[in-house]
Amino acid sequence: MATLNLYSSGSIQSQFCDNLLKTLPSNFEVCLFTNSGAEANDLALQLARRYTGCDGVAVLENAFHGAVKSVIEISPAALQRQNLAIMPWVHVLPYPDTYRSPSSPSKVSESEIVDTCFHEAKSILDKARKNGAKIGCFVSETILVIQGVIVPPRNWLSKIYSYIRQIGGLVIADEIQTGMGRCGSHFWGFQSQGVIPDIITIGKPIGNGYPIAAVVTSRSIAQSIQNLHEEYLCCSVAAAVGKSVLDVLHEEKLMMNAEKMGHRLREGLHILKHRHRWIGDVRGIGMITGLEIVWCKEEKRPAPEVTEKICYRLREEHILAENGGVYGNVVIFVPPLCLSVEDVTKILDILNKIFCELEVSESEELYQLLGSQSESNESSSQEYRWQENLEGVIAGGSSYYSLD
Ligand SMILES: Cc1ncc(COP(=O)(O)O)c(C=O)c1O
Repeated sequence: MATLNLYSSGSIQSQFCDNLLKTLPSNFEVCLFTNSGAEANDLALQLARRYTGCDGVAVLENAFHGAVKSVIEISPAALQRQNLAIMPWVHVLPYPDTYRSPSSPSKVSESEIVDTCFHEAKSILDKARKNGAKIGCFVSETILVIQGVIVPPRNWLSKIYSYIRQIGGLVIADEIQTGMGRCGSHFWGFQSQGVIPDIITIGKPIGNGYPIAAVVTSRSIAQSIQNLHEEYLCCSVAAAVGKSVLDVLHEEKLMMNAEKMGHRLREGLHILKHRHRWIGDVRGIGMITGLEIVWCKEEKRPAPEVTEKICYRLREEHILAENGGVYGNVVIFVPPLCLSVEDVTKILDILNKIFCELEVSESEELYQLLGSQSESNESSSQEYRWQENLEGVIAGGSSYYSLD
């Protein structure tokens, strides 16, 4: 760090920018750097407003884009948590959750869900515009990780993007969780959705732990604020970190690994879903996976308490997952892109063990309830049988979903 900070000539910054731009379509020409994803979203908002001259921002229900004031204002999830009112210039749009949609795909097609959701969004925007709102931009993740890993159905994002542009707004893609190869099939989440935004914001993985984030956009949008380049340069240490991250992603073929290991993880989770009653849905893309935990598969009633227990037990086993989603009932896995086959097997083994424990402890609770009602003297032998059952299920478990 000392060497880079003192002696760097600036070429490391331009190498980093060039390499980053090479991963993007040609409309992305300028990189502006910040220290956090929230600051990147703040800058993206400033740019969109200045470029369009319009203040209104369209966002998705339950979205989160960071924890600085301007960005909390466009983060319904944060506003709700902090009990804050939504600003009149923020317009909150629905998104298509094909698992929870009242018209789920078992009854209607995915394209009908997309159409219904899009028309709802369009009428919210039309009503707002009739009341004088001027929409400067639409901000969203391209895979809705915060909402519980919702992979948008085909065409939904492209419909929203084109309508926003039609009414004079810009489109900002928050790629803070989804970018940098995590989607596996594509380097950026927006590419997996077949859309091209006007501005993207990049955070967390761009520095692999080092505090750096970026806004990337066209020259004309960047020029809407004067001298922006000088204010949003990155220091040479940050540039060296960012350049190395891109090099390692490329050299170690981590994007391909994200695709393969993510697929493998979800295949295993689908098998667990058939074995354990708690798993309502398994979904994701690349190395972003959501496991929706419910009390009952038919009713889909969210089970946030169970989800918290699962994440806590995973942590005890040294596996980090987040209990997120709108109801706090989605186990979200966004592991490092270098995950190995052995890691995936370990995650599946441990999850299987945890689900078996949950089933046994639930049965024990029920048994105790029944036991307290009828004074049975069989209790110790029954308890022994539950224990035996647990060990049996766990022992049979790993071979059941072995993928080799
Ligand atoms: C989708 C999304 N956008 C933005 C942010 C904010 O990034 P940072 O924590 O770097 O400010 C986060 C953080 O969790 C995020 O998940």
